[in-house]
Amino acid sequence: MTYQKEVDKRRTFAIISHPDAGKTTITEKVLLFGNALQTAGTVKGKKSGQHAKSDWMEMEKERGISVTTSVMQFPYGDNLVNLLDTPGHEDFSEDTYRTLTAVDSCLMVIDSAKGVEARTIKLMEVTRLRTTPIITFMNKLDRDIRDPLELLDEVEDVLNIKCAPITWPIGMGKEFKGVYHLLRDETILYQTGQGHTIQDSKVIKGLDNPELDEAIGSYAEELREMLELVQGASHEFDQEEFLRGELTPVFFGTALGNFGVDHMLDGLTEWAPKPQARQTHDREVSSEESKFTGFIFKIQANMDPKHRDRIAFCRIVSGKYEKGMKLHQPRIGKDVRISDAVTFLAGDRSVLEEAYAGDIIGLHNHGTIQIGDTFTSGEKLQFTGIPNFAPELFKRIRLRDPLKQKQLLKGLIQLSEEGAVQVFRPLINNDLIVGAVGVLQFDVVVARLKAEYNVDALYEHVNVTTARWVSAKEQKHLDELRRKSEVNLALDGGDNLTYIAPTMVNLSITQERHPDVTFHQTREH
Ligand code: G4P
Repeated sequence: MTYQKEVDKRRTFAIISHPDAGKTTITEKVLLFGNALQTAGTVKGKKSGQHAKSDWMEMEKERGISVTTSVMQFPYGDNLVNLLDTPGHEDFSEDTYRTLTAVDSCLMVIDSAKGVEARTIKLMEVTRLRTTPIITFMNKLDRDIRDPLELLDEVEDVLNIKCAPITWPIGMGKEFKGVYHLLRDETILYQTGQGHTIQDSKVIKGLDNPELDEAIGSYAEELREMLELVQGASHEFDQEEFLRGELTPVFFGTALGNFGVDHMLDGLTEWAPKPQARQTHDREVSSEESKFTGFIFKIQANMDPKHRDRIAFCRIVSGKYEKGMKLHQPRIGKDVRISDAVTFLAGDRSVLEEAYAGDIIGLHNHGTIQIGDTFTSGEKLQFTGIPNFAPELFKRIRLRDPLKQKQLLKGLIQLSEEGAVQVFRPLINNDLIVGAVGVLQFDVVVARLKAEYNVDALYEHVNVTTARWVSAKEQKHLDELRRKSEVNLALDGGDNLTYIAPTMVNLSITQERHPDVTFHQTREH
């Protein structure tokens, strides 16, 4: 197959949803269709003690939430689909944000009994920072749901995106009969109890087909009347509007009942964009370019207890990865030979022979790779738009056993490379201050320090309210800041100079006094 054909068949997406809407269940069913798993449903069950393969860490198992991001690749029809799992808890928005920079489209999953929920609103805002096409799945039709037309209205009003229903539900809850596919003009009947296998579904062609009346009784007439209303009240699918993020195709179904997920996948593979271009400081890089480029959007330590290492997740923007190839890392100006990049099949890792634009590869990181790094075939490029955010919560971290200071520092720096927390080392003392965007991350850090670095640590209050990375055109301005405010300066995990302010008032006074210093709320390389 030619390079371009390989690239064009790829679809890289992530799921955005409010917790409990059904993201994990849909992921299982999607993998079932992709044959990545033999029997979906054996993957996870919070209560039965089994867990999705995408949930790696103990922490997640205990809390029943997905803390990490994993990558799953599977074939669907003629396409090759990459699904990036996003952390489910709102504390991890920063991590989620960066994951969304690595996809070309998103699937929005909505609990049809609840409608648009808080976290979905937030995530939609994030997808709009880069125009990301959105596909919608209205889940849990096997329950009593809200009026479907009202659901569409809510999506349009609250999320400010037009809805184009592709399928329309017939009945709901115990009376859920199936869906009518508006574009194919056919009704697909729902059978219960088929969640673990791909069932042969009964399809009735044509809306006026008497077979439909036979199969679903009075629902058939209701459906015909309803559809007239629906077509008047909603929008028709338009590829261009979809690609501009202005319109979303909507599918109805039940992930648990394994119904409708395939319709959604058909739509996704047909309409969602192939690997898209990404911006660098100098120029845009298109997936049609055959030279390798890519960027790191996530780093994760100790993913697999059997391989104690750190993996940097690289989204390939252009070109092809081949085992053993040499990649250039412009930030440090070095070439590295990559012989052991890994790919992820729902958490199982295997050594990769080749990968193309749109794919995610895992690079072993021995401390030289940072989030936001670019890799190329030699060109000096830097992809933009993969920031670190300044943390909003701070604690001093202290050891129970003071002999393990070195281990603690190593653990903290490695965990901060992942970007979920930041570590700050004040210039004037040996404190270690952990900064996070959400509270839960503090617990994660202590749990992981213990499990992965054998370090017993605890937190203490610290008088820090906010942090800003500082830079200046001339070194003398930074020296001046240092003379005046050394007590408030620290180095982060990557040795970047940071101002850690005890109060917001202190920060604004310092900013006024040092007009030649820039105080950054986000950090990009
Ligand atoms: P999340 O990853 O978005 O948080 O959602 P998850 O898939 O874990 O689903 C949340 C709950 O909703 C689970 O129930 C799951 O079984 C259920 N669910 C998902 N899809 C459907 C659906 O189509 N219909 C119905 N009726 N339920 C659905 P749980 O009781 O919290 O957990 P579990 O013990 O079933 O795993």
